[in-house]
Amino acid sequence: MNYYFKPTLIIALWATSFVILSLPTPSLQQQSSSFEQSSSNRTSSFSSFDQNGSSFERWSSNQSSSSSFNQTTTFQRSSGGVRLQNALTALQAWKKTFISDPFGFTSNWVGSNVCSYQGVFCAPAPDNANVITVAGIDLNHATISGSLPDKLDLLPDLALLHLSSNKFSGNIPSFFSRCKLLFELDLSNNLFRGPFPSVFLNLPSLKFLDIRYNQFEGVIPPQLFNLKLDALFLNNNKFSSPLPSTIRNSPASVLVVANNNLKGCFPSEIAKMGGTLEEVILMNIGLKGCLPTSIGGLNKATVFDVSFNDLTGTLPESMGRMQSLEQLNVANNKFYGEIPTSICNLPKLENFTYANNYITKEPIQCLMIMDKNDENNCHFWLSRLVTKIFYRVYNAPQVPVPPRRAPPPPSKNYAPYVPVPPRRPPPPPPAPKYAPPHV
Ligand SMILES: *[C@@H]1O[C@H](CO)[C@@H](O)[C@H](O)[C@H]1NC(C)=O
Ligand SMILES: *[C@@H]1O[C@H](CO)[C@@H](O)[C@H](O)[C@H]1NC(C)=O
Ligand SMILES: *[C@@H]1O[C@H](CO)[C@@H](O)[C@H](O)[C@H]1NC(C)=O
Ligand SMILES: *[C@@H]1O[C@H](CO)[C@@H](O)[C@H](O)[C@H]1NC(C)=O
Ligand SMILES: *[C@@H]1O[C@H](CO)[C@@H](O)[C@H](O)[C@H]1NC(C)=O
Repeated sequence: MNYYFKPTLIIALWATSFVILSLPTPSLQQQSSSFEQSSSNRTSSFSSFDQNGSSFERWSSNQSSSSSFNQTTTFQRSSGGVRLQNALTALQAWKKTFISDPFGFTSNWVGSNVCSYQGVFCAPAPDNANVITVAGIDLNHATISGSLPDKLDLLPDLALLHLSSNKFSGNIPSFFSRCKLLFELDLSNNLFRGPFPSVFLNLPSLKFLDIRYNQFEGVIPPQLFNLKLDALFLNNNKFSSPLPSTIRNSPASVLVVANNNLKGCFPSEIAKMGGTLEEVILMNIGLKGCLPTSIGGLNKATVFDVSFNDLTGTLPESMGRMQSLEQLNVANNKFYGEIPTSICNLPKLENFTYANNYITKEPIQCLMIMDKNDENNCHFWLSRLVTKIFYRVYNAPQVPVPPRRAPPPPSKNYAPYVPVPPRRPPPPPPAPKYAPPHV
């Protein structure tokens, strides 16, 4: 049976891309505002990203300078410096590559005060707080066509580069190798192609790497998972190598690889990421094999999505140890057998989708999950009969469901990036197929 061309896939892909493309990437404005809020607290150290993207904050907060991130301030202090002159050379060279800038995003990129350019953010240099340098560039959603010239190597202090949703193409220049402070790199939704840029493997500060929605192809380098990344988005490219066993080394909390053509077996080493992994989306990447028992070790995972693959076997009982799980999607695979009760008993599980498999039995606990899709499996006649009897006995007007919790706040500043579909309103009671028989 061919699962891959069902309309549900098209809708899912469309919905996914819509969610991703329509949501704004975290803006530097928000980040700088959160920086200003906390700039009085110089001692705070950041062990993880906060909702507003503490990445920039973390970088800036380690400075000895007492000036907060404030464009006006930096402007006043900036006249002269060699670094800003270099930045001027770099940015003007870059602007020359712009074939089109339909919204005039860079129309104020004139004159020598680069700190006043739209999307360019200055801050005291980490190695010398008396020197102002270009620390961040945010051209998200500018739809600029252009390329990345080698002259950008005159921006070695970049901590943050956001170029999402533009039309940049061409080579990834080697200038990145000079960006020792770069820890947020977002090239998503551009026209880059070719092999994975190995220059990214040598960025010692990188924590957030997003190259989704490009045309990168070939091997996902095993060294990528040795980096200390907190979030990695590779989805919607043309990568074609199996996930390497080094995946176990990754400290990432968010891993999205969906919609590539990787093939290969389910990467059982992923279970070793239990200490950090919170959201993993391996949808539609051609995975074969079974889910290993060790998968139960992912006890921090809130989102686990392996839908639209070729996985088979039964769902391991051990998944009942994934106590943080809220969204579980194993739909459109070849799983068979019985759904373990332990899964449906998971305390936070809100949405369990296992449509289009060969599941033969679902325990009654599974019927209580608010958002559940069990369509197109082997006949669940027994569980449906049980439900009918249940109705008769209790004359229940609707399937009893636990009260719905308020949706959790986004866990990360980049949570909107993760293709977790938006929540639907609760379905109208009672669901027709479990309706009580006519009296
Ligand atoms: C994030 O930003 C919003 C508004 O910009 C603010 O209300 C909130 O307190 C910030 N959160 C943190 C953790 O800085
Ligand atoms: C300063 O940082 C410390 C450590 O992170 C934190 O406990 C404290 O609440 C912060 N104070 C302010 C005023 O933000
Ligand atoms: C702050 O800078 C010092 C020295 O440059 C470095 O050792 C330390 O790891 C940095 N801390 C953070 C949180 O980046
Ligand atoms: C930025 O700095 C200028 C000049 O020092 C000051 O007038 C302004 O209030 C500052 N803005 C913020 C948001 O701190
Ligand atoms: C539940 O998950 C499925 C698959 O990921 C998704 O299509 C559906 O919209 C989700 N439902 C809710 C209410 O989030």
